[in-house]
Amino acid sequence: MPLTIEPTKSTLGATITGVRLNSLAANEWHQIESAFHQYALLIFPGQHLSESEQVAFAERFGEIEILVEDMKSIPISNRRDGQILGDEDHQSKLLKGNEGWHTDSSYMPLSAKASVLSAHILPRTGGETEWADVRAAYDALDEETRASIADMTAYHCYFHSQAKIGHKVDVGAGYGFFDGEPPLHRLVKIHPVTGRPALFIGRHVKRIVELEEDESERLVQKLMDLSCQPPRTYQHSWQPGDLVVWDNRCVLHRARPYDSREERVMLHTRIKGDPATESALNA
Ligand code: OGA
Ligand code: MN
Repeated sequence: MPLTIEPTKSTLGATITGVRLNSLAANEWHQIESAFHQYALLIFPGQHLSESEQVAFAERFGEIEILVEDMKSIPISNRRDGQILGDEDHQSKLLKGNEGWHTDSSYMPLSAKASVLSAHILPRTGGETEWADVRAAYDALDEETRASIADMTAYHCYFHSQAKIGHKVDVGAGYGFFDGEPPLHRLVKIHPVTGRPALFIGRHVKRIVELEEDESERLVQKLMDLSCQPPRTYQHSWQPGDLVVWDNRCVLHRARPYDSREERVMLHTRIKGDPATESALNA
């Protein structure tokens, strides 16, 4: 069966079948890479990759961002030592945080290029992942708003986004917590390959520097609401073995809720941003 690219009905995302990600021919990789730039989210059902195969696929997109020392992938999992975690566990709070719309590592001095996520153990219901197209959201803005936000910048802060859900994060708790001045990013991000502008927003945004606090909150909320609604969103209901990759430079994502007494185990590999285009302005 040849490689088939089936776009979703949303403004982002395509499902790719007829290919084995652990043994790609050069022309197959080229089709995948160009689909990645076009659709920003690719879904590969039933791949069942091993961890090292997932890392090897992720490395095609660039250098791996190390989130936990010596690990190129991290489990996004609500179990430890065979036990399901309680809701008050630190890790459970991180997972709860993932249920808010965000882009990976925007709170780090170098924001991420892309993320690969695969499903291993799933709850009976819920636990989907959803993405939102912030390129299409930018396109939907009126000229006046586009002009007003063109030069705005915002602080992105993990302590802030976790505090909003009642989680006090300890510095040094792992998972890329960053303790300096929060990274400052432009509100409108130009995609380094496609040149398309996108809103660089999400739950980690603490404050638009050029606005008063309440105005900043209102504008961020308005842009989030505009972005995170049909036809700019796509939700995937996972099957074990599915793998997805998304472009953090122009896509937001969130996990959907599920019964935390049921197991959910995913494997995440993150690809570093390019320092030329993903560095914070104050890095
Ligand atoms: C992530 C993430 C969402 C999910 O891995 O970065 O946000 O559905 N995951 O687990
Ligand atoms: Mn994430």
